[in-house]
Amino acid sequence: MSDWWKDAAIYHIYPRSFQDTNGDGIGDLPGITQRLDYLSWLGVDALWMSPVYPSPMADFGYDVSDHCDIDPMFGTLADMDALIAKAHRLDLKVIMDFVPNHTSDEHPWFQASRSSRDSPKRDWYYWKDPGPNGGPPTNWLSRFDGESAWAWDEATEQYYLHTFLKKQPDLNWRNPEVREAMCDVLRFWFDRGIDGFRVDVAYRVMKDPDFRDNPVNPDWTPDMDPSFRVHETRTKNIRDAHRFNRWIRSVADEYDDRVLVGEMNLKIPELVDHYGTPEAPEFHLPFNFRLVFSPWTAENVRALVDEYEAACPDHGWPNWVLSNHDQPRFATRAGRAQARCGALFVLTVRGTPTLYYGDELGMQNVDIPREQVQDPWEVLSPGLGLGRDPERTPMRWDATEHAGFCPPDADPWLPVGASARVQNVALQRKDDASMLRFVKRLLALRSEHHALRRGTCRTLTAPNEVLLYERAGEADRFFVALNFSGSAQTVALPQPAQRLLSTRMDTADVSVETQLSLRPNEGVLLRAETNRP
Ligand code: GLC
Ligand code: CA
Repeated sequence: MSDWWKDAAIYHIYPRSFQDTNGDGIGDLPGITQRLDYLSWLGVDALWMSPVYPSPMADFGYDVSDHCDIDPMFGTLADMDALIAKAHRLDLKVIMDFVPNHTSDEHPWFQASRSSRDSPKRDWYYWKDPGPNGGPPTNWLSRFDGESAWAWDEATEQYYLHTFLKKQPDLNWRNPEVREAMCDVLRFWFDRGIDGFRVDVAYRVMKDPDFRDNPVNPDWTPDMDPSFRVHETRTKNIRDAHRFNRWIRSVADEYDDRVLVGEMNLKIPELVDHYGTPEAPEFHLPFNFRLVFSPWTAENVRALVDEYEAACPDHGWPNWVLSNHDQPRFATRAGRAQARCGALFVLTVRGTPTLYYGDELGMQNVDIPREQVQDPWEVLSPGLGLGRDPERTPMRWDATEHAGFCPPDADPWLPVGASARVQNVALQRKDDASMLRFVKRLLALRSEHHALRRGTCRTLTAPNEVLLYERAGEADRFFVALNFSGSAQTVALPQPAQRLLSTRMDTADVSVETQLSLRPNEGVLLRAETNRP
């Protein structure tokens, strides 16, 4: 057991938007393979790809119609093998997305299931008669439009459950055949060399076995997410979620050194339950989305670090997500001026960091004109700010037309955004003070210094708008100070220390300080003088 995932920095790729090689305006596997050298140069350790399986693309790949193949839009199984082989040559781990909660309605399993009430696959999905009032069997709501999560099937006169789109029917994991078939999917990819899975909406897979209604949310107002009309106590994070976790963990444990990352938007006390116990382990990394869902203030982030450090069990390992394909990008949430501080934080706090492609450039959301909207969530619940296209725009490689994402005469599936001309990999590679250079330097320091990865982590007293913490290993000790404000700040360090890196990229080798001066929005990494008390 190497526990490589404790030391790794994970880079999340949204495959449609990374690199197009055949001019259809959609990113593909050969494009990712071609850019692996970039990831290796940058210094990340693992890449996670959102789904690339065959799919009608109703939810851009999160509606899988065949779990053991690659969508022709992205390439072939041979392309995937080539990607894995090259990644491994470069010492990069490859994590795929696993979507257990639902399949596409075009999956042969669902086609069989809906064909008749007597189909041997009928019970692979949730089929129910109408409820007592003649309508849907429960008040459960679909996440994307807040309408009933039950769709009526004319042909067989029953309802089926879909937590997301009607085209994404939920799989019934209480059926042992479903479990076996889905666990075989994991084995199929593990056998091909995949190093782990990010498990989509892991905490929603198990539902109340008695199909009881969710309690109504009395505080719901129409400007809120329509599915928040109920509290999801019967459909999310129920006790049995841990059974699901253990089923898939036991498959991962049939292999050496594989990792399971669980997608679950939970507060810290509930989140840490998903490590399981030392005897019955569950997720290696239950995704910690607290940064994504709470305000970027010194006070808040400090409280999160304290709470998480206290709650994380000894057999667990923390992790932090900066941005993802479902929520506004970090540099949009926190503002451009704080983009580097965000990167400094996730790359120096204790735990496995996940960066979203483009975070290393300080990429922000791109406004998508109404006629170019792609995301079904925006189509079904328009104007509430739920659409995810703005954070899914193409990666910015250079200053040419479409930022080098696709050929100049191609039509990218989402616009690259005007600022790509001044914010792209090519420009930032040449600029010693760029954010890209900053992130690369930080990743290098992280792999150089054991204490920055495995050392203890403790927040320290600092002025209101500053977050100060210590990372301590057996032999050395580091401090990180982040100025969340637009004004200069002074911080007393507990011990003299030398600046190793500043977000301003201008402080190599300056002398030892105990009174640390931070410029507006500046973050610094310091190394303590170990020969002094
Ligand atoms: C997860 C994915 C999201 C997808 C949904 C349904 O939340 O991250 O992109 O739409 O699950 O699969
Ligand atoms: Ca393509």
